[in-house]
Amino acid sequence: MPETDSNSEHSKIRHVAIIMDGNGRWANERGLERIEGHKKGVDNVELVVKLASEIDLEVLTLFAFSSENWKRPKAEVDALMALLESFLLEKKKLLHEQKIHLRPVGKIEDLPENVRNLLRETCRETQSYPRTLALALNYGSRLEVLEAVKKYAQAVGDGNEHPDEICWKKFSKYLYTSDLPDPDLMIRTSGETRLSNFLLLQSAYAEIYYSPVNWPEFGREAFEDALKSYHQRERRFGKTGAQIQELKVAGK
Ligand code: IPE
Ligand code: IPE
Ligand code: MG
Repeated sequence: MPETDSNSEHSKIRHVAIIMDGNGRWANERGLERIEGHKKGVDNVELVVKLASEIDLEVLTLFAFSSENWKRPKAEVDALMALLESFLLEKKKLLHEQKIHLRPVGKIEDLPENVRNLLRETCRETQSYPRTLALALNYGSRLEVLEAVKKYAQAVGDGNEHPDEICWKKFSKYLYTSDLPDPDLMIRTSGETRLSNFLLLQSAYAEIYYSPVNWPEFGREAFEDALKSYHQRERRFGKTGAQIQELKVAGK
């Protein structure tokens, strides 16, 4: 069976990934500073985490800071790092209440030390919980691939990997998302229709949904619209529609 065809329950949704975009525009539209949009965006995370729990989602991945976002003005980057720190401090309670394991996805080494320490601590404290909130921080797919290739090459050098035996399952263990299932649904808010270097390999067979709503206002209705759209689609993983229907009839 091809490696991409591991999801036999074609419509089951385990993992939703969200590109939380439009904070700046939300603020600009109201004559506010961009940072006000980011604050409002951080406030919205709790609601969406709760909506994910309601549908018993296994993994919610949120794109919070890309490896390209360092190019923004220093004041904005500093403000985002400060918001990240307060988010981690304030949302511990929520994670415990909702039984959610928080884990980062990205090149964590480059984040400020206080943020790194908090991430490590929260990740450890919540590791036994069944659901996952993956925060994509200093994340970019190209960076991820380069880092993975370096680690893989090292493992080949050490004699722990053999290039003749490489397959996607083995290689994907070197990605930041190593132990996470692939996203079933990828949502981008704010009406932009691009992936901006987010989970490009993991989303090979994800359903993509573009919401016109800016992230600070992406609430229950917008989330439910995305889920509804997802459930109306037919995921084929390279097969024909007829084959998928046969599998459904057979209950597979
Ligand atoms: C998303 O909102 C948050 C981050 C990228 C950190 P933006 O800041 O990109 O908002 P827009 O796209 O400028 O509206
Ligand atoms: C993607 O949004 C990154 C996050 C949501 C964290 P951007 O706003 O940085 O993407 P581009 O630059 O518009 O493609
Ligand atoms: Mg943006």
